Amino acid sequence: MHYGADYNPEQWPEEIWPDDVARMREAGVTMVSLGIFAWSRLQPREGEFDFGWLDRVIDLLHEGGIAVDLATATASPPPWASAAYPELLPVDADGATYWPGSRQQYAPSSPVYRRLAGELVTALAERYASHPAVVMWHVNNEYGCHLNADYSDAARDAFRRWLTGRYGDVDALNRAWATNFWSQRYGSFDEVFPPRKAPYSHNPGQALDFHRFTSDMLLECYLMERGILLAHGVTQPITTNFMGAFKPADYATWAPHVDLVSDDCYPDPNDPESFRAAAFQRDLVRSLKPEVPWILMEQASNALNWRPSNAPKAPGQMAALSAQAIGRGADGILFFQWRQSKGGAEKFHSAMLPHAGTDTRTWREVVDLGAKLAALPELPWPAEGEPDADAPATDARVALVFDWENWWAVEASDHPMNRLDHVALVQRWYRALHRRHVQVDLVRPEQVDGRYALAIAPGLYLLREAGAAALTSFVEAGGHLLAGPFTDVVDEFDRFRDGGFLTQLGGLLGVRLEDFGALVAPDAPPAEPGEREARFADAAAAGGADATRETDAPAETDAPALAPLGEHTGTLLAEELHALDASVEAVFTGGRRTGDPALTVRAAGRGTARYLATVPDEAGTQAVVDRLLAAAGVEPVVAGLPEHVEAARRGTLVTLVNHGGPEASVAIAGVDAVTGEPVDGLTLGAWDWALVLDAR
Ligand code: GLA
Repeated sequence: MHYGADYNPEQWPEEIWPDDVARMREAGVTMVSLGIFAWSRLQPREGEFDFGWLDRVIDLLHEGGIAVDLATATASPPPWASAAYPELLPVDADGATYWPGSRQQYAPSSPVYRRLAGELVTALAERYASHPAVVMWHVNNEYGCHLNADYSDAARDAFRRWLTGRYGDVDALNRAWATNFWSQRYGSFDEVFPPRKAPYSHNPGQALDFHRFTSDMLLECYLMERGILLAHGVTQPITTNFMGAFKPADYATWAPHVDLVSDDCYPDPNDPESFRAAAFQRDLVRSLKPEVPWILMEQASNALNWRPSNAPKAPGQMAALSAQAIGRGADGILFFQWRQSKGGAEKFHSAMLPHAGTDTRTWREVVDLGAKLAALPELPWPAEGEPDADAPATDARVALVFDWENWWAVEASDHPMNRLDHVALVQRWYRALHRRHVQVDLVRPEQVDGRYALAIAPGLYLLREAGAAALTSFVEAGGHLLAGPFTDVVDEFDRFRDGGFLTQLGGLLGVRLEDFGALVAPDAPPAEPGEREARFADAAAAGGADATRETDAPAETDAPALAPLGEHTGTLLAEELHALDASVEAVFTGGRRTGDPALTVRAAGRGTARYLATVPDEAGTQAVVDRLLAAAGVEPVVAGLPEHVEAARRGTLVTLVNHGGPEASVAIAGVDAVTGEPVDGLTLGAWDWALVLDAR
């Protein structure tokens, strides 16, 4: 279990370093990420490196028994670089340059940026590849964090190369982008630009490819550095810090190239439900690379500096969120940063060692957590992500489908409903599952298989053929699927498929979709006219399923008796759906679709396939999730817990966290992983947590 922080000794006089190391030992620090923003100190001028100070600090850490996650320091090019090579600066869609004076001012596809970064990484690798203190390599930092996309001339040239690689000849691009529309037909790749400022909507195929390109350019930078490290004999694991569901980088395509996933996560203490968003992020990053534990590379010990209002964490909240990360697969808890800065833009950001010193709650909590983590035995792995024939029903997990390409496409412009926030939608489903204490993986549609009892695919607008095939096989083999709304609408070029909508899943679902039925967005100004909500309720209560079934469908056999859904609100879309070969579980009871199917189910093979024709509000989502869990027989990790207590399973390790609510009793037996004491029932007060190795 790693414990530590970003360590930026270049911000401090050298006399302070021995005190840093002594304090690190006191706090139980085992590893620091060193020199992430030190490029201007490591290379004061082009061609001139200064590694003396880095040698000394690494040696000092090593003598103190602190391991080093050595940064490649390429995230913030020094002022001399942009002065000498202004062409490495990134440019926004309107043509405005991002100038130096902050950080991350580089165009990822700029050849000169890549050359300079490569020279620095080469020098670092030559010097430190076999240093005994270095146990990990930290490439760059949060790729794309501040610059979601670059439209510079370097990007233009690289985009043309990338498109040539993807399509081979320009006619293939013309077909993929449907360029006969609006006279966009290209005669050569040299006529194509990034989607820079334009009079009206961009070509959707171009926009989608530009997302792919942007992710790929950042990934190319990472791979360039990784390649240099490996070529110089680096054997330590190499990683770069992810940011959970970060739109510009499709981490599903990145994960195979990191030796372990590391992730930065900053839940907002002002939001009492932010622990569920944090749980979502942790499950997402674990799911990206389920074969190895991930590490929490950055979190805050206390308050941040970059939200409009930066509340402190509650006493105990930092450790509770750390326990959550461990329970969801982390084998390392690290912070931004070790010692709070004295100057610079982040001087108000909390750190392990606060500016206010060691007589502080933050320091005491940091030391206390360090001692507890040091007492942990090696934690079980793998268990999640692996088929486990002997797993009890509590391990029956849920696949929540999340796919970056779909995210990019579904939030493109010119749709029936242009206010879809895809992550917010997926997180609403996640929260409903989290409140029921079930295990969830966040996966691409192609990864849905027999490990899961239940799969939920909300808003899977762009559905690749392989994804549709996997979802179909999953159901036929006994899985329970919920799809929709706005699912299976386009192919990977953002074009309709022939034959209407739901062309791939319609047969499985037994439905036909006629229209999307946009409602006015819930957050639209009050004066905006139009229908904002639909209502839906159990078909039986609203007049009987058969009344709304258009053809006879086989009734579900052996299905458990399901509790009524009740009546709920649908938002954003109230689709016009026809149940051709499916039973209608719920109908619209309010709004323009009254009487039409809202939720259908079809028994297919050994499983069931449901389609939902609206976006339920929080309570409606919970009601649908409760039905799905009952139908699929998914049990909670620990039964009988209130919603503010979370439970996660990691093999034999069960993690329980009270996220600041009333005291709760937990029926669990095993051994406390921190104290080694037997556990037979627990009481958890606000922010209490426990890691229990269960008896199984
Ligand atoms: C990001 C960066 C860090 C720091 C923190 C502050 O995670 O990687 O360098 O700026 O944000 O929260």
